[in-house]
Amino acid sequence: MLSVENLKIEFFDHSLPETAVDDVTFTMGEGEILGIVGESGSGKSLTALSIAGLLNRGDITKSGDIVFNGLNLLHCKRSELRKLQGKDIAMIFQEPMTCLNPVKRIGWQVEEALRVHGEKDKFKLKEEAIKALTDAGLEDAERIYASFPHQLSGGQRQRVMIAAAMISKPKLLIADEPTTALDVTVQAQVIELLRRINREKKTSILFISHDLSLVRQLCQRVLVMKDGKIVEQGEAEDIFANPQEEYTKELIAAIPVVKKPN
Ligand SMILES: Nc1ncnc2c1ncn2[C@@H]1O[C@H](COP(=O)(O)OP(=O)(O)OP(=O)(O)O)[C@@H](O)[C@H]1O
Ligand SMILES: [Mg+2]
Repeated sequence: MLSVENLKIEFFDHSLPETAVDDVTFTMGEGEILGIVGESGSGKSLTALSIAGLLNRGDITKSGDIVFNGLNLLHCKRSELRKLQGKDIAMIFQEPMTCLNPVKRIGWQVEEALRVHGEKDKFKLKEEAIKALTDAGLEDAERIYASFPHQLSGGQRQRVMIAAAMISKPKLLIADEPTTALDVTVQAQVIELLRRINREKKTSILFISHDLSLVRQLCQRVLVMKDGKIVEQGEAEDIFANPQEEYTKELIAAIPVVKKPN
């Protein structure tokens, strides 16, 4: 479904070009949950953003190939990319508040992807939004629909983001640190929601996280990134049980072990 080949991302905002993502190659199958782990600055978000088509700046060059269902996203027309964005490929982020518009009601924002892709029927839009909010585990969907972002909790806002991403029934959901800003209980609920989405809607999920124990719980396969490169990739169980690279061993060793008090 997705094949990333020799992806390279360079910045030219200083006198010397800076390579932030270097020769990244991986594939993702339909219905798969793939994790990306690695220290801060290792290139996880840039990789994700370029797949979502959200990295378009004059001082950045991207090379290589990102092929999604036969279409090369790095080399296709803008119009072709736009047809896909927020529809076949959707993305959620760490801090929903930065993505939600504070002065627009939730319902309007959840409907956005459908509106952008041409749906005009108000009743249909509302019906789909209520359904997406309910599917994202928000029981009081009617009230949430009419609320403003500041009237919701952090966990509810993240569910709203997921509803807004899922309303267009994407084939690939990219989740960049979607639970990092949430407390542990809510984190677990969001992970459960992602698992359910994957199971019921067969959505593939690219899950980026600092939290290796979450990645281990959720993902079938894992990429380990360091300094813009993939240093190791494989089945999650293999990587966690038997890491080959020193860097992966260090990352795994850094997972805090919480001991119960006696
Ligand atoms: N606008 C920019 N200009 C120059 N360099 C940038 C820019 N944005 C990111 N970088 C650099 O690219 C590298 C990769 O950044 P990226 O955001 O992908 O890291 P990350 O793995 O997602 O980190 P984190 O875990 O902190 O989110 C970093 O070294 C960063 O400094
Ligand atoms: Mg990041």
